Amino acid sequence: MTHTPSTSHPITIHWRQQGRVITHQVNEGEYILQSFERQGDPLPFSCRNGCCTACAVRVLDGEIDQREALGLSRELRERGYGLLCVARATGPLVVETQDEDEVYDLQFGRHFGRGRVRAGLPLDEE
Ligand code: FES
Repeated sequence: MTHTPSTSHPITIHWRQQGRVITHQVNEGEYILQSFERQGDPLPFSCRNGCCTACAVRVLDGEIDQREALGLSRELRERGYGLLCVARATGPLVVETQDEDEVYDLQFGRHFGRGRVRAGLPLDEE
């Protein structure tokens, strides 16, 4: 009998900021962000907890395991966004990285939290 290797899946990432398309085999159940790092491709991230959206991607083909993506609204999940730091490989997948802050802006609004909105304060100097 030959030893059966554990299942792995081809995960392709269009890394738009770097103009590269990279594919690695990721073991079933392994975090995609972590696996890519281990294989020499450290993709953008910040919190690693599924909260900050720095690692967000848009799914082009396949499905992403979203159980732990707490920082992503249901609406954005339905629009095909996912968070790589908490996404585990469950099958072949093709995704593309977001524009800088694309997901953050979609979720929270372009000016929220950037010091441009002074909620409730009338601006007298116009
Ligand atoms: S690194 Fe923060 S959500 Fe993935």
